[in-house]
Amino acid sequence: MPQWDQWIEAIEDAKADADKHDATVAGLIITGDISEADDVIFQLERIVGVTRLPLYFVLGNHDFYHGLIATTRGEVVRIMRENEDLFYLTDTTPIEIAQDVFLIGDDGWGDATVGDYDGSPIRLHDFQLIADFVESRTADWPKLLHRLGKESADRLRDKLLALPERVRQVLVATHVPPQRESCWYEGKVSDDDWAPFFVCGQIGEVLEWYADRHPDVHLTVLCGHTHHQGVARIRDNLIIYTGSAVYGEPTVQSVINADADEVGLVDPKSGDT
Ligand SMILES: [Fe+2]
Repeated sequence: MPQWDQWIEAIEDAKADADKHDATVAGLIITGDISEADDVIFQLERIVGVTRLPLYFVLGNHDFYHGLIATTRGEVVRIMRENEDLFYLTDTTPIEIAQDVFLIGDDGWGDATVGDYDGSPIRLHDFQLIADFVESRTADWPKLLHRLGKESADRLRDKLLALPERVRQVLVATHVPPQRESCWYEGKVSDDDWAPFFVCGQIGEVLEWYADRHPDVHLTVLCGHTHHQGVARIRDNLIIYTGSAVYGEPTVQSVINADADEVGLVDPKSGDT
């Protein structure tokens, strides 16, 4: 069976399972790398059209391939305004998904603030495939990475500050792992060569800042980008789930129970949390 059909079937299974427990699947969360710039809107509309579920999402670096970042974001914002089931979290204020439980998000970017950019031999395809980098001098790439991370972190801080005082739980969707501890590759965290491109350190700082000032608020972060899964508990009230991925093979990573005291992620295959 094609991967797309398997994925849709897994979503339908999750709906049926929720039904059995007198619950409902309230929507899908996707943490980016959905497609490329010329196709991402088609895929977003296709997903909500087929699943008939609201889609809460951020964009990943792949979603900007063959385009300019601002242009792609602008087109996605425009289409979101025309489709009530699309929620581009980067451009959306906090959404209350259960009593006192809020969902926020931002794209994030590997922002060259963690690891050793200058000493690293790694240079991502992003630099050849995203127009912002193609049109920049090589020497300016780290500044651009830093700026993209800062803009994401600033927007995320604004969303955290916009949460009402009664907030109990926050679910944060972002593409790039915000801490080195959450940046997994084959069971290990990224080394200094990879971390500049695989960690959004400025979002990590914002999350720690908020978690330390709000010990009674629990933050659950969902991210991807590295293609390898892992869980990192950064604070008692800050846990980061990094999802796995294989090109062309979308899967349901987890079912999220937003009514739990600590927002719970359930493995859809085993039922384990
Ligand atoms: Fe990515």
